[in-house]
Amino acid sequence: MIVIKKATAYDIEDILVLINKYTKKGLLLTQTKSSLLRNLSSTYVALLDGEIVGTASLYRLEDDLAEIRSLAVNGEKSQRGIGKQLVHHLINETKRLQISRVMATTDTTIFFEKCGFHEIPASEVSSKLEKDCFQCKDFSLCHKKFMIMEVSKNKVDKVKQESINIS
Ligand SMILES: CC(C)(COP(=O)(O)OP(=O)(O)OC[C@H]1O[C@@H](n2cnc3c(N)ncnc32)[C@H](O)[C@@H]1OP(=O)(O)O)[C@@H](O)C(=O)NCCC(=O)NCCS
Repeated sequence: MIVIKKATAYDIEDILVLINKYTKKGLLLTQTKSSLLRNLSSTYVALLDGEIVGTASLYRLEDDLAEIRSLAVNGEKSQRGIGKQLVHHLINETKRLQISRVMATTDTTIFFEKCGFHEIPASEVSSKLEKDCFQCKDFSLCHKKFMIMEVSKNKVDKVKQESINIS
């Protein structure tokens, strides 16, 4: 059974192990213990039988724009709906915070489309470019896409938030 919960300081080592696998492949931004601690209150973990198998954070880029960051699912547990459930949890958190747009910066556009996001041009997320992209050493080589969801227009309330059973 998968359960999504807010991360605690005790989870940080496990979160880093998950994230670091994808950071090395250039899929996620580098995180450290201190950067995770700073963002702990908006970081979530997915637990399978008490073991952390996924994580994701919500970061407020603008008053009315949040970003899903450091979304990672253990490769051995992929394609079972864990990533989608983490995203839906953050969408509902975005809604609870009364932020009307949530975005992601990703190579995995199909996954986010399946979560209800659509692609937007970089010109529509200038705060993301200024805060992260222009500082990134790989910016000139980057092919990541910007995906967004208008939360207020979305039927997030209909998304199942209860725990799901997986084998
Ligand atoms: C992307 C990621 C979070 C997906 O997690 P997951 O638990 O395997 O995804 P889910 O099982 O919830 O998949 C939901 C849907 O997306 C599809 N999907 C998942 N990963 C996909 C991929 N890489 N390419 C295409 N479709 C994908 C699934 O087939 C599923 O489709 P369905 O609803 O039609 O059945 C995971 O592969 C991962 O950690 N990737 C590396 C880090 C990363 O790229 N993070 C995103 C950037 S923030």
